[in-house]
Amino acid sequence: MFHLSMKAQGVSSTGVPNDWFYGIATSQYTLLKPTGMKMQRILEPEIMEDVEQAKAYDAADFSRAHDRRVEVFSELAPPQAINGLVLDLGCGSGDLDFRLLSELPSISLIGIDGSREMIKLAMSSVAQRPDFQERATFIESYIPSEKLPRGPYVTIMSNSFLHHLHNPQVLWDTIKQLATSDTFIFVSDLRRPETLVEAATIMENLAGSEPEVLKRDFFNSLCAAFEVSEVEAQIRTAGLAGLEARPLDDIHLVVSGFVRC
Ligand SMILES: C[S@@+](CC[C@H](N)C(=O)[O-])C[C@H]1O[C@@H](n2cnc3c(N)ncnc32)[C@H](O)[C@@H]1O
Repeated sequence: MFHLSMKAQGVSSTGVPNDWFYGIATSQYTLLKPTGMKMQRILEPEIMEDVEQAKAYDAADFSRAHDRRVEVFSELAPPQAINGLVLDLGCGSGDLDFRLLSELPSISLIGIDGSREMIKLAMSSVAQRPDFQERATFIESYIPSEKLPRGPYVTIMSNSFLHHLHNPQVLWDTIKQLATSDTFIFVSDLRRPETLVEAATIMENLAGSEPEVLKRDFFNSLCAAFEVSEVEAQIRTAGLAGLEARPLDDIHLVVSGFVRC
């Protein structure tokens, strides 16, 4: 296992290099390292703005995870949610969006991301796919913003975005700002493991052979993610009683439903 095999200086007992941690992480990590205590959320940078990081993310093979996400979306979405304009918050370089556009011929889609590099990559993929040019628009914008296109949207979605937000209410407030009572909401994300060691083990099992930058980002994302109960509390705080959060599999959660206006 990764955490047993790495002995170099600067590598923690979980096997995770110490310099992977961001911001407050180092102090929490030092406190929790010897005990294996249940970890609190550890923030990671919001915007994936680094060129190499964005390129590595874009080049990664997300086919299994994203095809599964399309399946779950198709199972949960009512017919009106797959016929019209979809908004994807924190769209990254658009891999999931392209899969949705391929699978669902009656949607068009706007993807928003705060990373210039991610949006550049998404736009260059669209340029190579004439069949998507009329149906996909990608916009660089930091969220929250008062300037996001107003829709109306049949669906507002996000995947692996919530855990990046330092203030998670930003997602729910943006949904409230842009959804009508007919807009289907679909949010999927990672769930935070109980301990740092568990996070390191999941990272090693699922991404052990990926480039270092992807392993680091995946580990940091697991540590930054929320538990289902925390997402339920966020939804209550936002007054979005029509949304339901539940576990999707061992490491993911999903939120779906409608905004009751
Ligand atoms: C892990 S990626 C997920 C990308 C895509 N949704 C996917 O599933 O592959 C998270 C994305 O959210 C973006 N992001 C994070 N915080 C943001 C914010 N406040 N405003 C806009 N984009 C943000 C990052 O730049 C990054 O591209």
